[in-house]
Amino acid sequence: MAPTPSTTAPFSAVIRAASQDRHLEAESSAFMGDMLGGRLGVAAYARYTEQLWFVYRALEDGAARLAGDPVAGPFLRPELARVAALERDLGHLLGAGWRARATALPSTARYAARVTELAASWPAGYVAHHYTRYLGDLSGGQVIRGIAERTWGFRGKGDGVRFYVFEAIANPAAFKREYRALLDGLAVDGPEKRRVVDECRNAFALNTAVFADLGAAFPLTG
Ligand code: HEM
Repeated sequence: MAPTPSTTAPFSAVIRAASQDRHLEAESSAFMGDMLGGRLGVAAYARYTEQLWFVYRALEDGAARLAGDPVAGPFLRPELARVAALERDLGHLLGAGWRARATALPSTARYAARVTELAASWPAGYVAHHYTRYLGDLSGGQVIRGIAERTWGFRGKGDGVRFYVFEAIANPAAFKREYRALLDGLAVDGPEKRRVVDECRNAFALNTAVFADLGAAFPLTG
């Protein structure tokens, strides 16, 4: 059960607090631990990046569909777009012809399908996924970039780790503050906010499921 959100705290604080346990769970997965501990080969990192490509295509195809939507529209900032960066990384990691070989793990397919479904049916639910990925990338994603550069020898901020580099965001801390202000003004009523929190928790769980599949494919810890 998610903790009951406060009715007075700003929504950005509510959603953060209500997803903290799920964040910890995702962060503590064996795959993440092994990856951040530098114990995995570059093939595992490449497979992970490939999974992100499926997820971000769903997010960014969804964004194209939601442009102009009064609830989700304000969150859809072009500076966040990650698909082009992921495609450069994957060309570097997997070599020519990677698109024809790319496959989604079952958990990734479920995750991407959920994002696509929400983009078509529930804009505020889509925002829950948007928040979970993009604010995370602007935060802990920077830790992953540093470790990937050191572990697998990518050029600093170069091909292989472009996904983590937001070239159009000069000041991530300021960007995150603005993003949280948008969350605080999310144009839905209280009961719907409660559902958004639940969907955010679901978004974290979908990420954890991808880590579990990746952990099974690249076992080490355990
Ligand atoms: C080992 C991996 C991870 C590390 C080291 C990490 C680390 C962090 C850190 C340090 C912050 C706080 C940044 C701040 O206060 O500005 C943060 C925030 C966040 N992370 Fe992670 N994280 C990891 C994995 C994930 C995953 C897998 C997700 C979800 C897909 C995620 C989603 C988020 C979100 C949404 C926030 C923003 C919370 C908020 O301020 O509202 N993180 N992360």
